Amino acid sequence: MWSLLALAGLTYASAQQSCKCTPGGACWPAIDTWNALNSSVSGKLIENTPPAISCYPGPYQDGEKCAYVYSQWYNSTFQSSEPVGYVYPTDDNCPPVDLSSGKRPGTCTLGPAPLYTVNATEPHELATGMGFAKENNIRLVVRNTGHDILGKSEGYGALQIWIKYIQKGITYHEQYTSSNNCKNTNWTGSAFTIAGGYIWEDVYKEAFKRNLTIVGGGDPTVGCIGGYVQGGGHSPASRDYGLAADQVLEAQVMLANGTVVTANACQNPDLYFAIRGGGGGSYGVALSMTLKAYPSKPVVAQSLAIQSLGNNTDALLEAITDIHAEYPTISDAGFSVAAMGKSAEQAEKAFAPLLQKLQRYNGTSLFVSVQNMQFPTYPAYYRAMSGAHQPGGSANSALSSRMFDKRSLTRDRKSLRRMISVIAGAPEEYTLNSVELVGGGKVLTDGHDRYSGVNPAWRSTYMVNVVARGWADSADNVTARAVKHDITYRKGGAMKALTPGLGSYMNEADRNDPDWAADFYGTNYQRLSHIKQKYDSENMFYCPTCVGSEKYEQKRLPGKEYGPLCAV
Ligand SMILES: Cc1cc2nc3c(=O)[nH]c(=O)nc-3n(C[C@H](O)[C@H](O)[C@H](O)COP(=O)(O)OP(=O)(O)OC[C@H]3O[C@@H](n4cnc5c(N)ncnc54)[C@H](O)[C@@H]3O)c2cc1C
Ligand SMILES: *[C@@H]1O[C@H](CO)[C@@H](O)[C@H](O)[C@H]1NC(C)=O
Ligand SMILES: *[C@@H]1O[C@H](CO)[C@@H](O)[C@H](O)[C@H]1NC(C)=O
Ligand SMILES: *[C@@H]1O[C@H](CO)[C@@H](O)[C@H](O)[C@H]1NC(C)=O
Ligand SMILES: *[C@@H]1O[C@H](CO)[C@@H](O)[C@H](O)[C@H]1NC(C)=O
Ligand SMILES: *[C@@H]1O[C@H](CO)[C@@H](O)[C@H](O)[C@H]1NC(C)=O
Ligand SMILES: *[C@@H]1O[C@H](CO)[C@@H](O)[C@H](O)[C@H]1NC(C)=O
Ligand SMILES: *[C@@H]1O[C@H](CO)[C@@H](O)[C@H](O)[C@H]1NC(C)=O
Ligand SMILES: *[C@@H]1O[C@H](CO)[C@@H](O)[C@H](O)[C@H]1NC(C)=O
Ligand SMILES: *[C@@H]1O[C@H](CO)[C@@H](O)[C@H](O)[C@H]1NC(C)=O
Repeated sequence: MWSLLALAGLTYASAQQSCKCTPGGACWPAIDTWNALNSSVSGKLIENTPPAISCYPGPYQDGEKCAYVYSQWYNSTFQSSEPVGYVYPTDDNCPPVDLSSGKRPGTCTLGPAPLYTVNATEPHELATGMGFAKENNIRLVVRNTGHDILGKSEGYGALQIWIKYIQKGITYHEQYTSSNNCKNTNWTGSAFTIAGGYIWEDVYKEAFKRNLTIVGGGDPTVGCIGGYVQGGGHSPASRDYGLAADQVLEAQVMLANGTVVTANACQNPDLYFAIRGGGGGSYGVALSMTLKAYPSKPVVAQSLAIQSLGNNTDALLEAITDIHAEYPTISDAGFSVAAMGKSAEQAEKAFAPLLQKLQRYNGTSLFVSVQNMQFPTYPAYYRAMSGAHQPGGSANSALSSRMFDKRSLTRDRKSLRRMISVIAGAPEEYTLNSVELVGGGKVLTDGHDRYSGVNPAWRSTYMVNVVARGWADSADNVTARAVKHDITYRKGGAMKALTPGLGSYMNEADRNDPDWAADFYGTNYQRLSHIKQKYDSENMFYCPTCVGSEKYEQKRLPGKEYGPLCAV
């Protein structure tokens, strides 16, 4: 049964001074106080309900709605348009129910989701919400799309400020000039100013109609100027033009106290550094950012498909090892997911040594097929080969990522082959590996940028591998724990062992990584901590695995993975 009061029964620890107030606690604001907040944000305060609440007995029950929600559950656009919808939730607190198959609803709670949402459309409403959270000692969540994979957009007992609908336009500059006459950025090419909670789909529309390339998400439903760009941001265009964070020319940022500042190489350069790769949700809220754009070039792409003939897993893993080992050479020759400004002949030449190696298996243990494609422009390439809306994930999954440099891929084939065996896993584990060819090229050479806050490990990264596993809805928590352990320590551990000193991509990373500070931020962590201290001295912005998050601990409600947030 759904009831807010049920939550009150679950709270504890909120009376302790060091914890954020939670509902039911003595310090929780009275209804009049919430009503006053609602008035000051022009009635835009929402009392949150889980997206699938219509599937459960109670005042919101509605079979038709429930069937719709059930059909849309893995649609990331649907989840993004729900105040507390998540693309990769950390908890299955209110799953949609397939009533048509005779399934019966179990229990539905908000789980780790915030309790209230300010559906802001104006920057001052964001400031008002942050002020309210501070004054009342309530946990704050700032959210745009809810795409985050590490639980950063969740928050038990929190007040959420939803910034998706603060949208003040996407402006094209044919020739960029700094808004405050800053000469430290030499960029004179074109640029876009993205002022608000837009997603890449919105910006691609503007860029593609002008035949321009912009470094944005492979999936167009990702938000532009939040977690994606501030956490690094990789793209089909990143080998040629760098990470998304490297494209930021300047930004308008609202600090925790509501002040709006400019961040670029001349003004608040430390904040500029931090938001260019030091993680979203940590230093301030970006209200707008100006990003570089490039004239588009013809693109060549290749699709390489390998199918096992029979049960010879060994040959398949050998072939995958060959691909990994050859990739740095291919990347150095100018190729990645999308190769720009290269001819089909150049592509053939670059791939020939790899294809020769793969011939060894072709027709005997594997079937290898290669398809070469050419596109006249980047927009044409993106529409055909990228840009798919990926289905959302489930709370019943764990993943880990790792960056790979040239040395780890080419130095010792035996070690590489061994690691690939470990991360491939046993057939019954249904392990998924996604090899992301998003490093190399400009990602390496942008290491010279003094204002880059990304994990320095990116500057030697050629590829990132994401390894993931899930478990059945019906699995017990022992099984779930075993899968998590396998991902963090065995599969994640094998990738780490081969790549000492490198890191993980923080936006696609293991939320259980015990070494998250080193793995996600590398040698930048201390510097980022100081910048956080300067701009957010009261630690208003908390998110798990974000800079400064070690100052808090998320307590656990009995039998749950979430609970009140307390200072350590
Ligand atoms: C379907 C899918 C596809 C993806 N594809 C890619 C990809 O191609 N390349 C890639 O690099 N990553 C990709 N990711 C990972 C993505 O980069 C992260 O999930 C990222 O955190 C999403 O940012 P968001 O702002 O859209 O999400 P949200 O969940 O809304 O926010 C994430 C974090 O950023 C903070 N934040 C949001 N907006 C702001 C702002 N304006 N200022 C400051 N902080 C803010 C939030 O507080 C939160 O901490 C993908 C994820 C999903 C789910
Ligand atoms: C806030 O005010 C609006 C308009 O008056 C109302 O519809 C809404 O229910 C209120 N929100 C809450 C949480 O009370
Ligand atoms: C996904 O959700 C969006 C928003 O609700 C909707 O417009 C779109 O049609 C949905 N896509 C599918 C495949 O159902
Ligand atoms: C949030 O505000 C936007 C813009 O006003 C509106 O379109 C949307 O329906 C609102 N969402 C909810 C859940 O109230
Ligand atoms: C801009 O150009 C000057 C002069 O060529 C150079 O010294 C400086 O490093 C450049 N700055 C950046 C950020 O590239
Ligand atoms: C797009 O731009 C590229 C490079 O500037 C040019 O070669 C190509 O002809 C343009 N294509 C279109 C459709 O305008
Ligand atoms: C592969 O292995 C499975 C299970 O061991 C077996 O059922 C199947 O027949 C094998 N297939 C081939 C082509 O050898
Ligand atoms: C693999 O063999 C098949 C069948 O002989 C052939 O059609 C295909 O082109 C070969 N693959 C490669 C990459 O040469
Ligand atoms: C807001 O915070 C910034 C950074 O800490 C500080 O410089 C500024 O003076 C503060 N503004 C107000 C109005 O307190
Ligand atoms: C594991 O599951 C059991 C039975 O479902 C439950 O009693 C227990 O609290 C759970 N433990 C944790 C840590 O979630």
